[in-house]
Amino acid sequence: MKVEFRRAEVSSELRSLMTFDKKVFGADAFDRAMWAELEVWWMLVDSVKAGCAAFEADTAFDRNGEPVREEGTLYIATTGVLPRLQGRGLGLLLKAWQVAFARRHGYRRIVTNHRASNAGIIAINKGFGFRRTGRIKGYYSEPDEDAISMELVLKDGDLVLKR
Ligand SMILES: CC(C)(COP(=O)(O)OP(=O)(O)OC[C@H]1O[C@@H](n2cnc3c(N)ncnc32)[C@H](O)[C@@H]1OP(=O)(O)O)[C@@H](O)C(=O)NCCC(=O)NCCS
Repeated sequence: MKVEFRRAEVSSELRSLMTFDKKVFGADAFDRAMWAELEVWWMLVDSVKAGCAAFEADTAFDRNGEPVREEGTLYIATTGVLPRLQGRGLGLLLKAWQVAFARRHGYRRIVTNHRASNAGIIAINKGFGFRRTGRIKGYYSEPDEDAISMELVLKDGDLVLKR
């Protein structure tokens, strides 16, 4: 199995991104305007677009979930693996790559939000040392749900997978 990460060209790959996103996130899929704001990376497994990560550089969010500029903080907006390829360790690989990406680019902190019911990603994040920082009431719609906010503060030499 060959795994590669490639930066997506959002304007020319928009259709492919939106198709992928719909398959992975359904009603939570982003619209065009949102994709245009993001730095997007594909995880290619044997050349297949198996996963996707999207970031907002130097961005955090306030207690209502609204983005705020914060130098040195990387906001992870998307972590997704194609449904037919889930449950094989690719989510862990993608998360490990995201953390390594943040370190490589000198970020001091990673922040992210997830549906409160999304036990899978919350467990994965905790495994990488993320801690819960809050709950945002009614952040998601269809269905309405709170978000759990998480952060990982990066320090030299602390990339430890706690399992
Ligand atoms: C979340 C997601 C990225 C995980 O990817 P994946 O390839 O299925 O995950 P992995 O196979 O690497 O699983 C890794 C670990 O996650 C944990 N995990 C997964 N689902 C879980 C669940 N429902 N409850 C608890 N832990 C869970 C397990 O610890 C698992 O390790 P294991 O192999 O020892 O069981 C993927 O399921 C996905 O894209 N889901 C839809 C989109 C989404 O919700 N993204 C996150 C919000 S941005």
